[in-house]
Amino acid sequence: MDEPDKRPYGTGDASFRAAGGEAGIRCMIDAFYDLMSTDDRFATIYAMHPADLEISRDKLARFLCGWLGGPKLYKEKYGAIGIPRVHGHLAIGTPERDQWLTCMTEAVAAQPFAADFKRYLMEQLFVPAEAVRRKCSAEQPSEPAENS
Ligand code: HEM
Repeated sequence: MDEPDKRPYGTGDASFRAAGGEAGIRCMIDAFYDLMSTDDRFATIYAMHPADLEISRDKLARFLCGWLGGPKLYKEKYGAIGIPRVHGHLAIGTPERDQWLTCMTEAVAAQPFAADFKRYLMEQLFVPAEAVRRKCSAEQPSEPAENS
């Protein structure tokens, strides 16, 4: 009999499987970039990307496969990566972080994933998104703090 995978998300490849494996993750990332490139709410972060999003789609999908406990497909093709570091040249503050997370939340909502996995995934993605914001604000302090 087919037993559903009872391992908690974050254990082994449970998250990768809950996301539908590589095909499910590629579908989610296509939804993410389709939305980002067509919805004005995400115009600021869309404008930071290269005109041709094919490589961006491939890189993010491959990264998430490994990050969710599946095969390390990003490393295989592009080498080692530090997520905050590769964003250090970009002007990402709280509004840009939240654009990214909102766009991803809506892309994830459209996938056929279990509801508890959708919640888990977005909680987990907040962590690197916030690390990116912190790295970028350290690299390029934008506005002086108030009252200084
Ligand atoms: C906080 C909000 C974020 C924004 C606004 C953002 C934006 C971007 C942009 C504009 C690029 C393309 C950079 C370029 O080609 O010059 C990029 C690349 C990338 N991002 Fe993000 N990102 C964010 C968060 C994240 C998070 C949370 C992850 C992973 C969980 C991630 C994974 C990646 C990867 C793997 C690449 C490709 C890096 C490379 O190989 O060059 N990003 N991001």
